[in-house]
Amino acid sequence: MNEKQNLLSVEALKKYFQLKSGFGGPKKFLKAVDGVSFDVNENAVFAIVGESGCGKTTVARLLMKLLEPTDGKIMFKGRDVAALKGGDLMAFRRSVQIVFQDPFASLNPRMRIVDALSEPFKIHKLAPKHEIKDRVREILMKVGITDEALYRYPHEFSGGQRQRICIARALTVSPSLIVADEPLSALDVSIQAQILNLLQDIKKETGIALVLISHDLRVVHYLSDEVAVMYLGRIVERAKTEAIFSGPLHPYTMLLLSSAPEIRRIKPENRTRSVGSGDVPSPVNLPQGCAFHTRCPKRLAVCDKVEPVLKETNGRQVACHLY
Ligand SMILES: Nc1ncnc2c1ncn2[C@@H]1O[C@H](COP(=O)(O)OP(=O)(O)OP(=O)(O)O)[C@@H](O)[C@H]1O
Ligand code: SF4
Ligand SMILES: [Mg+2]
Repeated sequence: MNEKQNLLSVEALKKYFQLKSGFGGPKKFLKAVDGVSFDVNENAVFAIVGESGCGKTTVARLLMKLLEPTDGKIMFKGRDVAALKGGDLMAFRRSVQIVFQDPFASLNPRMRIVDALSEPFKIHKLAPKHEIKDRVREILMKVGITDEALYRYPHEFSGGQRQRICIARALTVSPSLIVADEPLSALDVSIQAQILNLLQDIKKETGIALVLISHDLRVVHYLSDEVAVMYLGRIVERAKTEAIFSGPLHPYTMLLLSSAPEIRRIKPENRTRSVGSGDVPSPVNLPQGCAFHTRCPKRLAVCDKVEPVLKETNGRQVACHLY
């Protein structure tokens, strides 16, 4: 039985940024994303977690087709995104929306809210002109913003309200997928829960799938169905959310969880305090073997020699020589 349809399929995706090298010097590449694969079903929330610089935003930009991959493939609704043109590309741009970390930077400061939210309706010809304002009103109401907001400018709102407006803008085009890149991290802690609840309501009511990028494990735990843990451009563990939080396999996942002990489901034996003495390697000069070996408290003799591949264990995936 296939009750949930596959919406997005990412296969061996890579993005290498070429760095400026000295005259005549060898070409150097920063491997921001280095062979990432995952699937997102309709109506699912797929979370990507990992420390700063591990490649989360680069994945988001690749998914949005704001960046061209160095290699690999993105399939959306069964079609290769790289090959989309004309009307199909337009339809893709409508189907996949993004919500950024900083709601202020992503709203035009000179545009009133009514104009900012009318734009997508006009660009994608989604409603007759005379209906647009009512549709905008309706969507703003859904995210908890009242009528009087229509003729105001972004600076007249609080951070939380601005993020609601950005979410409303993403909803105007009835997308199938929203990519949310750290949607809460620019907001006050007291506001974060409200936006989190809003995202939860949207998930329940609309069936829109979400790729949720966050370094905040509480957010991921609350909202997601599946989690991919990234380290230096690669997925090191992927599993259902409950499995990740109740029994992480990869030492790096354990390390991330140990810094969020307030998630009570983490068993004490799955918390790692020691992170080893090593530094985080540079994505320009990745070490041989497992990229995490410089910090791993559980490393084996093989770990600095042979790179572990992501393999299936009990319906989940982990890249580590311990398994
Ligand atoms: N346009 C670019 N040119 C060169 N390097 C880049 C570019 N964009 C990103 N990078 C590098 O790629 C790596 C991944 O960056 P990315 O922004 O995807 O990380 P991130 O996981 O989103 O981090 P954060 O949690 O801080 O947002 C980093 O080392 C970053 O410096
Ligand atoms: S492969 Fe080795 S170094 Fe890497 S996470 Fe597993 S045990 Fe640690
Ligand atoms: Mg980022």
